[in-house]
Order: sequence, then structure tokens, then C-alpha cells
Amino acid sequence: MHRSSRTGRSPRAAAVLAAALTVLGLLAGGCGPETGGVRGTPGAAGLRDPYFPKLGNGGYDVRRYALDLAFDPETGRLDGTARITARATQDLSALNLDLAGLTVGRASVDGEPAAVNRAADELTLRPRDELREGAEFTVTVDYAGVPEPLTDPDGSTEGWMNTAEGAVAVGEPAGSMTWFPGNHHPSDKAVYEIALTAPSGLTALSNGVRVSTEPVSGGRTRTVWRQSEPMASYLATVMIGRYATTTGTALDGIPVVTAVEPSLAAATAGLRAELPELLARQQERFGPYPFGAAGAVVTTDGLLGYALETQTRPVFPAAAFDRTTLVHELAHQWFGNSVTPETWRDLWLNEGFATYAEWLYEEEYGSVPTRQSFEAAFAEDANWAFPPADPPTAENLFDPPVYQRGAMVLHELRETVGDRVFDELLRGWAAKYRHANASTEDFTAYAEEVAGRDLGALWDVWLYGDGRPEEP
Ligand code: ARG
Ligand code: ZN
Repeated sequence: MHRSSRTGRSPRAAAVLAAALTVLGLLAGGCGPETGGVRGTPGAAGLRDPYFPKLGNGGYDVRRYALDLAFDPETGRLDGTARITARATQDLSALNLDLAGLTVGRASVDGEPAAVNRAADELTLRPRDELREGAEFTVTVDYAGVPEPLTDPDGSTEGWMNTAEGAVAVGEPAGSMTWFPGNHHPSDKAVYEIALTAPSGLTALSNGVRVSTEPVSGGRTRTVWRQSEPMASYLATVMIGRYATTTGTALDGIPVVTAVEPSLAAATAGLRAELPELLARQQERFGPYPFGAAGAVVTTDGLLGYALETQTRPVFPAAAFDRTTLVHELAHQWFGNSVTPETWRDLWLNEGFATYAEWLYEEEYGSVPTRQSFEAAFAEDANWAFPPADPPTAENLFDPPVYQRGAMVLHELRETVGDRVFDELLRGWAAKYRHANASTEDFTAYAEEVAGRDLGALWDVWLYGDGRPEEP
């Protein structure tokens, strides 16, 4: 799925170009499938993301992932089948999927066996028949092995992590390739159905709504989760283990599932119970909650070094399960999960907004005015290391400027346009790019449109400028 209402492109010019290409295609003729000639080319092995050029793949657009995963905590082995429904965006002779580790068995395209090649984290499938641009097709990949987590450029761990009794999988920015083959770039969002088969007695959680739980052979249980709104693959999650769970509802009756390591149940009960209220408050500020399910998972410390906004079900190490972090990860459901960065360079649109949501929360309940949070951030040298819209390397993606200076950009904008326009802007941004992708340039254009004026000077200093300006 690739739904971004980019502003910089003229639909008229595109139509003229398309018409010209059609004419050229007709004139060129004679090399189509009807004459047995080859016209498809391999899809690109990466989407040239500024920080992760090999992430994602070109030539197709995924609509749906159906993952059927069986996990054995005794051996740590994962047996998976990925059924990927996609649409070709060019004539394709071969296509790539991102996959790290694991062994691929059979692969097929539209039911016909496909030739398989592996090189580093790229899995190449060559279908028997070429795929035509615009055609919808289904790829099936059987794979297995003991998944291993990745170490990010910033040194943190992500991907599939085996635990004493189960596993936890998280994937920002690249870890999802450790447990399923896919188009692992945020620009290609899709719907998901994730089926987890694990020993009965363990809880198996993933994104979205639980659609079934049933016993299967070998003393195991198969639980199916459905994420029916688009999701970027970095937000997919699996948690298998011994958890104490609570179920309830929030907002207009959407299911809420929280899960914690049993030893943390009592200590986290109060905050977990606040989740529906926090969501309701954010919904007033940001507009309709974008998903049909909600929740939170708290793991024991020592596994994850950070909390993550995994879609509908953010995950927290016990030490980070506090109200501020919960507010932050819930805000990401609008900013990041529904409105998703076009590339990893646009990450401040996630982290700056989620940090500003913390400041707004503090202002409302903690009596710390946002101006005060802004000034504290302004005083901090670490926040000025680089402009939020341009982290120097992948190592710096999650550094303080992306979070704090990102939030400062929003505060400056609020002081420039006034509270009323700013409120409209927050809601309007979440609405305009709901379930889509957006870039920094989309944001600046949108803000100027709503403000009704040029804000170039603000962006130059706060978003793109090096170093701290004179006056806060
Ligand atoms: N997005 C997470 C948050 O809510 C942080 C993820 C950190 N990941 C990493 N690879 N450093 O702040
Ligand atoms: Zn965040």
C-alpha cells in the first residue's frame, strides 16, 4: 500500500507523461509477452532510503501479509509461512524481499514454484512467468530457523529476541526482517494477519484484534491476530510468553489488551487502567484514534533498551513503563503509525510529535507549561547537535535532536501561528495523512497552507539550521 498525498507533484504533468509513455510503448510494440519476448526487469533491491538504502524493494507494492508462525521456546526455532499479496508497479522478471538469517524452503508466485536466491539480507524470487505492471500477485515463502536479533547502527538491539520462556519481536527500524520476509521500508504499508502457534499455557500476542484462539496438535494453541488498518513493517510485533493479561474496551468499544510479566502485574495495574482515559484525551486533541484495537505490553527489564510504539500494542521494558512514556507511545499511534514517515529521514515527524504530546500532557496534568518544557530543551546542549530534519548518519537517528528539537519546532510553530491554528494543524495533519506516508516537505507545505502564510524563516532556523539560535 502506498497512499501518500504528496503535494509537490502535478497530476496533470504525470498524466501527460503517462500518455506519452503509452504512445511510445505502442510504437515500440512487438516485444510483449504475446510475442514471447522479455520485457520485465528485476525490481530494485532497495528503495534508496537516505539511511538504509537496501531496506525495502522496488517494483511492487504489498497489500497484505498473512504470516503463519509456529514457535518452539525449547529450541528457539521458528517455522514460518509468509503469504504476501502485492501489486506489481512495473513489469517484473524478479523481485526481492528483505530477510535476515533463517533458511528459505519453498517459494512460489501465484502458486507456481519460483527460483530462490539469497545474498546477505536480500531474498530474490524469480517467478516462472513474468509479472505485468498493475497485476496483483501472491508470493508464498516457507522458511525456518532460529531467528537472531539485529544490532542497530546506534548499538541498540531489535528484531526477534528469544526469552527464557518465549520471544519478543520488535522492528524499528529494520528488525522485522529477522522474522519475516517483506518489503521492510516504512513507505510500503500493508494490512496483516499474524497467526502464532505456541505451547498452550503461553500467551501469544501481536498487533490488532484477536480473531481466534484454538488448540492444535502437540499441546499447542494457534492464536490469530488481525491488523486491518495499514501498518509499516517496523511496527509489527510478536510477544510469546507467560503474561498476566487484562482485556477491556476503550473509546467507542474497541478492544484493549494489556499484558505484563506476572511479577509486574500488581505494580503496573494502576497505569494500565488509565490507558482508555489517556487515549480519550489524545483523541480530543489529535482527532479520531486511527485503529480498531489498543493495549500495552510490559516486559521484564534487560530485554529491550527502549519502549516502542508497536501498532495498537506498544511495548515497554518495566523500567520505562511510566505515564510520560505511555503518553509518548500512545501519541505515536497517530504520529508515526497512522501518519508514517516517507523515509527514515522524516523520523522527527514521529519523535518530535510524540515528545510534544508529552509536553502537552504535562501542561494539562502536571502544571508544567509547554513554554517551560521548551526552555528546558532549549538549554540542553545535546539537543543542538544537528538539525532534526537531517540527522548526519543512521547512528544518530534516535538522538536527542530528533526528539527534543523536533518538539521545539512544533512549539515555535505554535507560538508563531497561535493556539487555535496550531490545534487545527495537529488534527488536520493526522487527518490528511491518516493511514498514509508523509515527508518533512509535506509537513512544512501543510503547515503553511493552514497558517495561510510563508513560514520559511521558521523552518530555516528550527528544522534545518545548524546550531542554537540566539533567542528562544
Ligand atoms: N520509537 C521508539 C520511541 O518511542 C524508540 C526506538 C528506538 N530504536 C532504536 N533503534 N534506537 O522513542
Ligand atoms: Zn518515540
